[in-house]
Amino acid sequence: MKILGIETSCDETAVAWVEQVGTQYRVIDSLVSSQIRLHERFGGVVPEIATREHLKNLPALTKDLISKNHLDLKELDGIAVTVGPGLPTALLVGVSYAKGLGVALGKPVYGVNHLEGHLFSPFFHLEDRSLMDSQKEGFDPAQLRIPFPMMGLIVSGGHTLIIEVKGWKEYLKRGGTVDDAAGEAFDKVARMLGLPYPGGPEIEKWARLGNAEAIDFPQSFPERENFNFSFSGLKTSVRYFLEKNPDYKEIDQKKRDLCASFQKAIVEVLVRKTIRACQQTGSKSVVVAGGVACNGVLRERLQQEGLKAGVTVHIADPNLCTDNAAMIASVAAARLGVGVDPDVAGDFNPNLRF
Ligand code: KG4
Ligand code: ZN
Repeated sequence: MKILGIETSCDETAVAWVEQVGTQYRVIDSLVSSQIRLHERFGGVVPEIATREHLKNLPALTKDLISKNHLDLKELDGIAVTVGPGLPTALLVGVSYAKGLGVALGKPVYGVNHLEGHLFSPFFHLEDRSLMDSQKEGFDPAQLRIPFPMMGLIVSGGHTLIIEVKGWKEYLKRGGTVDDAAGEAFDKVARMLGLPYPGGPEIEKWARLGNAEAIDFPQSFPERENFNFSFSGLKTSVRYFLEKNPDYKEIDQKKRDLCASFQKAIVEVLVRKTIRACQQTGSKSVVVAGGVACNGVLRERLQQEGLKAGVTVHIADPNLCTDNAAMIASVAAARLGVGVDPDVAGDFNPNLRF
C-alpha cells in the first residue's frame, strides 16, 4: 500500500508519502511549504496569493519528496487529496493536480475531508528514524484501536468544532463557533499587540511569564448547556481594554499579563465545553487537533481535566497539528486498510461538512 497525500486547502502546500511496511503503515516523509511570511504583512491569508503559491510550489514539492526519498510514482496504489473545506481556488489547485497525476499514472484519486485528516491525526505518527523500534514508527490499521465513540475538538485558524465521532464516516457535529475561530481570535489579538502572524505561538510565548489572573476577560458562553463558542466578544473586550490601557501594549510585563489572561479565557472555555461534551455523551476519549492544539497550556489543561473526568485525551503531535498532507494520506490508507470506502475524489467543495 503506497499513498501520495496532497493538501492545499489554505496557506500550506503539503505532500506526503505513506507506505505499508509489513503490517505497519509509515509516513515515509511529509513536506510542508509554508507561505506564512508572504501573508504576514496582511495579518491573515490572502486567497489569491495562496493559490498562486500552491500552483508554483506543488509540482516542485512533489518532485522533492520523490527524489529525496528515492520513491517511484509508478508504484503508488492511489493519491489522496483534500477536497474541502478550504479556500476554493486553493483547493482547486490540489484537486486538479491530483486528478492530473491520477490520469497520467492510471491510479485512483481519493478525496479526503480536511477536518477528518485533523480528527485522526493523533493516531498517526511521523516516522522518526531515531525511534525506529518504538511504537512511534507507524500504525497498523488493524491495530489502530481508535476508541470509537469519541469526542473530537478541532481548533485551528479556520475552525472551532466539537464533533462526536461514532466510527469511520459517522460524525455528528455537537457544537462550533458562532463567529471567529479560536486561532483567528489569537491572530487578531496578536495583531492588536503588534505581534507577528500567526499570532497563536507569539501569544503563547508572551503569556509564559505573564499572570493569567491579571485581567478578567469574558469567556464565551461558559455556563450555557450547548457546545457553541463565541470569540468575537472576547476580541472586542481586548480592544476596549487596550484603548483604555495603552500601556498594556508598551510595557513588556503588562503585555505578558494581557497575553496570559486572554489565552486563559480561550483555553478554559475550550476545555470546559469539550469535557462536558464527553460527559454528556458518555465518550471516554477525546481527540484534539488543529493548529491551536499546539498550544502548551491547552494541551496541559485538557490532560488535567480529562484525568479528573476519566476521559483519555489524545492530542496530535505538534508537527501534525498544523496543516499537513501526512494526515490526508493516512486517512485514505487507514480506511483502505480497514475496508472502509476511501471515497473517489469528486469535485472540490469549499464548504464541505461532515
Ligand atoms: O491548523 P492550522 O495550521 O491552519 C488552519 O487550518 O487554520 O492552524 C493555524 C492557526 C493559527 O490561527 C495560529 O495562530 C494557531 O493555529 N496556532 C496557535 C498556536 N500555534 C498555532 N494558537 C495558539 N497557540 C499556539 N501555540
Ligand atoms: Zn487545518
